[in-house]
Amino acid sequence: MRLLSTLLRATCALALVVDPTAGHSIDSVALSSIRRPSVFSRVSSFSWLRKQSPILISLPDAAQDSDFASWLSLQSVRSFEGILANIGPDGANVAGQNVNPGVVVASPSRDHPNYFYHWVRDGAITMRALVDEYENSGNASVKELIDAYVDNVRSTQWTSNPSGQFGRGGLGEPKFEVNGKPFVGTWGRPQRDGPALRAITLISYARTLQRRGAPMDSLRYLYDLIKPDLEYASKFWASPGFDLWEEQQGLHFFTAMVQFKALLLGQEIASDFSDEGAARWYHIQANGLKQFLLSFWDEERGYLIETLASPRSGLDAALLLGAIHGGSETVFPIHSDMIITTLQALVTDMRARYPINEQDSYDSNRFPTAVGIGRYPEDVYSGGDLGNSELGNPWFLCTATVAHTLYGLVEHLALSNSALIISNLTADFYLPFISPTPVMEPHYCDFSATAIWSRSAAILGFMPGSRETEQVISNIFHYADGFLKIVKKHADAEGNMSEQFDRQTGFMRGARQLTWSSESVLGAIKMRERAVEAIEKRRAYFQRF
Ligand code: NOJ
Ligand code: NOJ
Repeated sequence: MRLLSTLLRATCALALVVDPTAGHSIDSVALSSIRRPSVFSRVSSFSWLRKQSPILISLPDAAQDSDFASWLSLQSVRSFEGILANIGPDGANVAGQNVNPGVVVASPSRDHPNYFYHWVRDGAITMRALVDEYENSGNASVKELIDAYVDNVRSTQWTSNPSGQFGRGGLGEPKFEVNGKPFVGTWGRPQRDGPALRAITLISYARTLQRRGAPMDSLRYLYDLIKPDLEYASKFWASPGFDLWEEQQGLHFFTAMVQFKALLLGQEIASDFSDEGAARWYHIQANGLKQFLLSFWDEERGYLIETLASPRSGLDAALLLGAIHGGSETVFPIHSDMIITTLQALVTDMRARYPINEQDSYDSNRFPTAVGIGRYPEDVYSGGDLGNSELGNPWFLCTATVAHTLYGLVEHLALSNSALIISNLTADFYLPFISPTPVMEPHYCDFSATAIWSRSAAILGFMPGSRETEQVISNIFHYADGFLKIVKKHADAEGNMSEQFDRQTGFMRGARQLTWSSESVLGAIKMRERAVEAIEKRRAYFQRF
């Protein structure tokens, strides 16, 4: 970053000096502020803003849209209830149906489609939300459910199934009967994301208990469950398996991302339990995965692809889910250019794909609008509710995932005190959020004295506090809200969400009351709260001047 900013400063100064045709006089104050290294690197650098004209940082104003604001708070409660309703043995949707304690039923739907199973992936992702809730509230009944899940993990791991036995591939089994028996029908197996997701959830539970005062020693029973899952991830990450959508055999970004995160967290916890050999092994394998993950970047297409050597386009909401549930701060975090440019490509595809998305691509302020998002362009699975599949539809969880990713980006940008850097890669995404839309040209350099353009690096930078940077933050926030407003439009009045909504009519389709739909919307709303907090902090900071 420091290198980049030096480069920016140098190139900018150069452009100003050698390009008199741009027709701008060199403002010495502006130039010196650009040259000051602290502008890019330290919070105190914001002080240069005192010299600037009034800064406008528009904050999302809930009062402006009270309807949406009250939906958000209601929906987060309903989403949580929607999750609880599908957990055995007593959840409202599953009570009295022989569902074992701690089993997470994917959906109460028993036919067209039959989702009355415990999927390892859906279960782990959902329980992660409960762990977060327990971390915040300390609610004892939530803890009871997590503990039941933990017991269930123990018996599931040891249940021989069509993928194998304990220690012999059995952990790759994607789903189980709700009474704990193996599912023996034909299925896309193994799916290698499950153990990794489960390890992430159990590790975060162990950390939560630790923060609440439990001695590490008392948590060894959790490590005993975590370790087999880490072993599985560490030994099978290079072996092909089915993707999270249970359709394609191969090597997948989502799977690799969650395996990477599991091993990263696994390395730490192994070492906390003095399992040093394991810690070293997980460290080495995580490094291998880190390298491997780079191969999912497709330079020619200009975005990440979900499955290597697949005939598909590669665009997939799973790429964003990978950034949300996997990765790390340095390995494809939500706000990284490669994730953001992939999001942009996915949204562009989906905009044109479903009839319900037909609308102007820009709103009355000329900012991009949100649309319903499906799993991937080639999807033909219509939810199993009408028998034959014809064409795919937008999904609640994919639409919420785009919102979640964008809120994560907003949080990151709002907490950042360095320049907003727009590269060739991300220009299509960022520039439409700035009005008037800048052009990536040399003379843009001294536009309001806050922008710098480097032709050689093909990057444009905007100072913190500049009109452009602040516009980007608040406009992306509103854009993200647009995706949740689409969720709001298609959910029912009680906050229930199925798996999909119809591409033509918008009516709900596929498995009803899908647990994962609730989890994903809850996750997006939580990330929105974090984004709001970050924006408030930023505004408070600027108001000191
Ligand atoms: C059910 C799977 O869970 C879903 O992901 C898939 O698209 C359909 N079967 C069709 O194969
Ligand atoms: C089908 C989805 O494709 C898959 O990801 C999910 O695990 C199952 N349905 C259960 O919700």
